[in-house]
Amino acid sequence: MKRALTPGTFDPITVGHLDVISRAAQLVDEVVVAVAVSAKKKPLFSLEERVALVEEATRDLPNVRVEPFDELLVDFARRMDAQAVVKGLRAITDFEYEFQMTALNYQLDKELETLFIMSTPQHMYLSSSIVREIASLGGDVSQFVSPCVEEALRRRYAELGKTGR
Ligand code: COA
Repeated sequence: MKRALTPGTFDPITVGHLDVISRAAQLVDEVVVAVAVSAKKKPLFSLEERVALVEEATRDLPNVRVEPFDELLVDFARRMDAQAVVKGLRAITDFEYEFQMTALNYQLDKELETLFIMSTPQHMYLSSSIVREIASLGGDVSQFVSPCVEEALRRRYAELGKTGR
């Protein structure tokens, strides 16, 4: 069984992530979307909320499941019995950071392969922080995220607006 991880913070999941996840799902038997705690990033959505949104957004992909993780990626991959990590590359600016992470992960576990999928051109500019910024200013994010994520963003910023944050 070929199993790959697609790790990230997913705060929140965008159509760019979904593009990479669904393309990875065509290449392996199972994709595990690994949702990182990423406490340092102070995510807008809790871990449970991010996992639930990824689950909802990937509902139509039968060989995709979602798991939270709070450990080294290589340890989580071993625990999940995954042979590869799949990441999306959007632009040359992603390369240096991804190259560093790949090299470190390779030092930690030489059996774990990292594969890159180039983003499709219409997703090159997309990131979770850009989506959060547009939503926080009341903009329309429907072309960038699934309907469940759009609704969650609307609700979260309405709540934050009420508490004055
Ligand atoms: N489409 C759209 N957006 C994408 C994207 C794609 N294909 N690929 C990446 N992004 C965006 C994300 O939306 C996010 O945007 P933002 O910062 O504007 O919100 C950004 O690129 C990447 O952030 P994130 O999801 O946090 O991923 P990351 O590449 O920084 O890696 C982990 C996060 C969890 C995979 C990594 O930190 C990790 O492995 N942690 C575990 C601990 C560990 O093993 N550390 C050692 C690693 S060497």
